[in-house]
Amino acid sequence: MGWRNAATREPTVTIGPLAPVPADEAGAVDHDVSRETAADGESSDDVSRETAGASEPSAEVSRETVDAVEPHGDPADPAPGQDGPPDSAPLAAALLAEAQRRDRVQQTEVRPPQQPRVLTVANQKGGVGKTTTTVNVAAALAQSGLRVLVIDIDPQGNASTALGIDHHAEVPSIYDVVVEGDELATVLQECPDVPGLWCAPATIDLAGAEIELVSLVARESRLKRAIDHYQQTPGAPGVFDYILVDCPPSLGLLTVNAFVAATEVFIPIQCEYYALEGLSQLLNNIELIKAHLNPVLHVSTILMTMYDARTRLSAQVADEVRTHFPDQVLKTSVPRSVRISEAPSHGQTVLTYDPSSSGALSYLEAAKELASRVPKIEDAQSGSPAGRP
Ligand SMILES: Nc1ncnc2c1ncn2[C@@H]1O[C@H](COP(=O)(O)OP(=O)(O)OP(=O)(O)O)[C@@H](O)[C@H]1O
Ligand SMILES: [Mg+2]
Repeated sequence: MGWRNAATREPTVTIGPLAPVPADEAGAVDHDVSRETAADGESSDDVSRETAGASEPSAEVSRETVDAVEPHGDPADPAPGQDGPPDSAPLAAALLAEAQRRDRVQQTEVRPPQQPRVLTVANQKGGVGKTTTTVNVAAALAQSGLRVLVIDIDPQGNASTALGIDHHAEVPSIYDVVVEGDELATVLQECPDVPGLWCAPATIDLAGAEIELVSLVARESRLKRAIDHYQQTPGAPGVFDYILVDCPPSLGLLTVNAFVAATEVFIPIQCEYYALEGLSQLLNNIELIKAHLNPVLHVSTILMTMYDARTRLSAQVADEVRTHFPDQVLKTSVPRSVRISEAPSHGQTVLTYDPSSSGALSYLEAAKELASRVPKIEDAQSGSPAGRP
């Protein structure tokens, strides 16, 4: 695997064949995995188990963790060939580790950044967790006391939905800002469940914006102009500490606007083999933007999403990405979690939908890790490739 093709100087990200997983290890669990994960095909089972964990706050650690050590059955059941109850030491250790992790994350303080940070959450591959990451990281930062704005620049409007924001056709939206030139302050709505979290929603109007933008003046920098103007002369919510822009799964003019407006690119990568295909095209585009439109743009953060600890593939993909982007990949990865996928249907982030779930804990941990990392603007300005090692 290499990230740059020596002959063409084209950035490439390839991943070699991954080691086959022995059949008897395919179900092995050596990480913190939630029962949610196991439940993709067993929906009735998973929800009840998660609920059982959530409804027993005194236990602190949900049933999810129980299944991390006992993936093949109820831990109360005797192991095959064993009459009495199984040895509980690994289970106790896992429970303790989970409780300690939760305490550590909750005690970690988040300070406002010295300069407001604008991150574009992008990956032209669809369904890798861009929107999920945007709204949950934003909610976690806001719950930690920061002022956070999510800009939904995806015509699908998924981030607006997930934050419980009204975004039917007549609502003032990011379309009015980017295409009509309205002030950003005129379209902001506060998330009903998370004080301090605001959203510039996307409506269906945005679907035509790619074409309408083509003939407009300064078509690539219209979002940047609006953000800069707002941050210099802020409206009611005040200056935002973090602005996260949720991009569509394409590299059109809306995504270009997001790249020009940001200093940092935040790439969610799904822990599966195909997820890496197309990464080189994304990095190539970021380099072009950096060279021609926004010299400070750099990939600051990569988050591994939908991590399935039962499979070697997830671990191998995460290891490959970490090897090539050691400074960018967050230590925290987000597990595949039914709670995370259920939350948007309730117009909520997982942080408010089920704060005790492993998904909520992971996003809180990822957000705090992101906030603790000082952005390397100087590196970006010194001409190193777009965030590359
Ligand atoms: N950690 C997770 N566990 C389980 N499901 C998840 C997880 N993260 C995301 N999903 C689900 O995967 C689907 C795709 O996620 P999401 O919409 O965030 O991806 P996206 O990259 O924004 O997609 P698009 O490219 O269409 O904008 C959604 O149904 C979401 O609920
Ligand atoms: Mg999305």
